[in-house]
Amino acid sequence: MKKARVAVLISGRGSNLQALIEAAKTTDFPAEIVLVVSNVTNAQGLGRAEAASIPARTIDHKGFASREAFDAALTEALEAARVELLCNAGFMRLHSESFVRHWWNRHLNIHPSLLPAFRGLNTHARVLDAGVKLSGCTVHFVRPEMDSGPIVAQAAVRVLPGDTEDSLGARVLAAEHRLYPHALRLVASGAVRVEGDIVATQVKAKGPQAALFSPSLDEGL
Ligand code: GRF
Repeated sequence: MKKARVAVLISGRGSNLQALIEAAKTTDFPAEIVLVVSNVTNAQGLGRAEAASIPARTIDHKGFASREAFDAALTEALEAARVELLCNAGFMRLHSESFVRHWWNRHLNIHPSLLPAFRGLNTHARVLDAGVKLSGCTVHFVRPEMDSGPIVAQAAVRVLPGDTEDSLGARVLAAEHRLYPHALRLVASGAVRVEGDIVATQVKAKGPQAALFSPSLDEGL
């Protein structure tokens, strides 16, 4: 099987990177991670790449005069590695519009909410303040506007009574670690097609078709 050549962009911990690394170890996974780039020196995720023998490098945005100049250096590194697909995984920097256009429909991001709700930072605090009963995570194609773009896959997570940012964040993160490999598999295998602002998936849904109720009509609460 020809595997898609993937780069992962990080700024920090890299737990989603780790989930992608683990998934890519399986022989039938349709993507291989050929490069990890961090815009932050000594990001924890760089060690994860090194431990998995994946080429990793830091391109520190502070060394560039403009966002465009940083993004141009990024594209140069990605193209030198013949990257076909990009995955942002905790990459805490906005891209220039020209970068987004260059990687159009070849560039994924993961966000810890059910988009289009709760774009931006401090997601879990805002979810708790809003009192919503379901949160979750989303993998989407990148567009110029932050945390927007055609949605590839989502996972829902209950907001439980007594949840804190940390407890909810941990539950959502565990879902992210399952969702990102799933979404990358869909994209890398060619199972999704972007049609305007949405993604059409050619994969039939498995599992229960019934609604998922939040705490929890079907449990008698
Ligand atoms: C994740 O919650 C991701 O959704 C968000 O930033 C966090 C990154 O975590 N964009 P990690 O670096 O993958 O551990």
